Amino acid sequence: MAIEIFPVRENFVAEVGDADLSRPLAPADIEAIRQAFWTYAVLIFPDQNLTAEQHLDFARQFGPLETSISVYRADTPMRTRPEISDVSNLDHRDQVWGRDSRLRMFQLGNRLWHTDSSFRHLPALCSLLYARAVPPIGGHTEFADERAAYDALPEEMKQRLAGLVAEHSIFHSRARLGFTDFSEEERQSMPPVPQALVRTIPQNGRKSLYLASHAGRILGMPDAEGRALIDRLIAHATEPRFVHAHRWRVNDLVIWDNRCTMHRGREFDDLRYRRDMQRATVSDIAGSCEQEGIAVAAA
Ligand code: OGA
Ligand code: MN
Repeated sequence: MAIEIFPVRENFVAEVGDADLSRPLAPADIEAIRQAFWTYAVLIFPDQNLTAEQHLDFARQFGPLETSISVYRADTPMRTRPEISDVSNLDHRDQVWGRDSRLRMFQLGNRLWHTDSSFRHLPALCSLLYARAVPPIGGHTEFADERAAYDALPEEMKQRLAGLVAEHSIFHSRARLGFTDFSEEERQSMPPVPQALVRTIPQNGRKSLYLASHAGRILGMPDAEGRALIDRLIAHATEPRFVHAHRWRVNDLVIWDNRCTMHRGREFDDLRYRRDMQRATVSDIAGSCEQEGIAVAAA
């Protein structure tokens, strides 16, 4: 049976039915999923029963997998294999984390609007988040359509942004939360990287903002001015008209395009309820500056 696509908005977010991702998909179905993905940027696959291997196999349909950053877990063993990012509120003993744990402080960064791995030279093309346990209330994930946000900008702002480059670092987003407790070794392991502020999605030619709370300053601009522009653009891109909130059900798999969406996790009682979310992440083919043909002087 062919898969079914149910759009949630006109060109943003769709549900996909009659797709069993635990089994190899027919080439026509894979192609239909890919096409829908470029159009809607966020796809929801309900009721999936996946092992880690099946989750990763589906992710590989979109490109090579990223290895999860475990820098902040150097002191604790991982609950998941290295290709899976553990986005749960559980520690390595499978218990709800402690209120003051470093793990919790670090993961609170996911409550800020961001796109995955923009702090890497090779950022993420897409992320596939799988819900194994969800809290009864709260813990939604919100997605913002940065293509629509770009389209809605005044013409003079589009011109002002053309060719601009922002510096992204995981330590910028953590510093926004007042979390600066990183060793010099940790800092040096992930230096800031340049990313284009506007990018073009090759599959359909749509332009998109490329923003994240990881962005700290804009190259060639005074720090405060760049930061103010980034904050203003994030506020614009996350206006309710561009945002969809996903309320999780157990066994939902959601895939999003990190090149043209931002997302954030919403609050829940994380000291009481288990929220077990696991993410596979696919690398993009090149950094955004390279893809946009913007030359950046080496730092
Ligand atoms: C992620 C992420 C938010 C959430 O998995 O990349 O930011 O709601 N998740 O868990
Ligand atoms: Mn994320």
